[in-house]
Amino acid sequence: MGLDTPDDAGVFRLNSNTALIQTLDFLTPITDDPYEFGQIAAANSLSDVYAMGGKPLTVMNIVCFPSCDLDEDILAQTLKGGQDKINESGAILVGGHSVDDAEFKYGLSVTGIVHPEKVLTNCRAQVGDDIILTKPIGTGIMSTAIKAKLAGKKNIQESVAVMSMLNRSAARVMKDFDVHACTDVTGFGLGGHILEMAKGSLKHVTLYSDKVPLLEDVMMFASMGMVPAGAHKNRAFFKDLIQVEPTMDRALLDLMFDPQTSGGLLISLKKQDAEPCVAQMEKKGINARIIGEVIRDSTKGFLDII
Ligand code: CO
Ligand code: CO
Ligand code: CO
Repeated sequence: MGLDTPDDAGVFRLNSNTALIQTLDFLTPITDDPYEFGQIAAANSLSDVYAMGGKPLTVMNIVCFPSCDLDEDILAQTLKGGQDKINESGAILVGGHSVDDAEFKYGLSVTGIVHPEKVLTNCRAQVGDDIILTKPIGTGIMSTAIKAKLAGKKNIQESVAVMSMLNRSAARVMKDFDVHACTDVTGFGLGGHILEMAKGSLKHVTLYSDKVPLLEDVMMFASMGMVPAGAHKNRAFFKDLIQVEPTMDRALLDLMFDPQTSGGLLISLKKQDAEPCVAQMEKKGINARIIGEVIRDSTKGFLDII
């Protein structure tokens, strides 16, 4: 699997028992705290391996750092945050590369493994599936509110906690169930990624906006217009294959397309498995919810947001 499929990572089959998963991601700082930024960037990079049903083995740092403008300690703290998340994932840091650059960026290239028959793609959702989301959304809108100095300390803490949480335990729980398709929610927003799943699977999917878990106060910030340009771009980009309930709250609709950093897993699985899977996740402290349903076959894929 490579450039021909719009999935989370490349997959290369080594033999009948093992396939290699490869992915690379890096970010510009999204918090003022470099240690937290390191954690978030690492969790975000590792997530694509979990979304493919795999286990990360080795990682490499990628760093662009303005050494004339920023103190070396900022880099050290960032790398420490990343290392702590790498340790938590069980992967091993084996190298990396850094260059001097005008804008600070940090992330990981990640190599993982998966059984070739257990690769999860985003294109095998089945009619009758329920769709689960494993993290609350709104981190893009919250970042905008933080920059505008509108968000409080509690808001910042919750947002950082959500973004730096690994998708590792959610991925572990999902392995016990009959999962048909999986991806993670990042730049396209929840609506964009669920539509990608619908398109890849050629299915008509319904997203229940009132069931989607949200960061606290994020509806209020969205109502105040703290919406990043990416949310509007996402909605415009996908508009031909999306139908929105006309009476839907504008702020809630903006949230459905809010670009996420290190978002949760989006899991399409047999309806009977959905509630037990959510219950298992809740036991592990994961804020998972059933947020959608695969309704019927569709020639291009389609998303209804109600
Ligand atoms: Co992804
Ligand atoms: Co990625
Ligand atoms: Co995938």
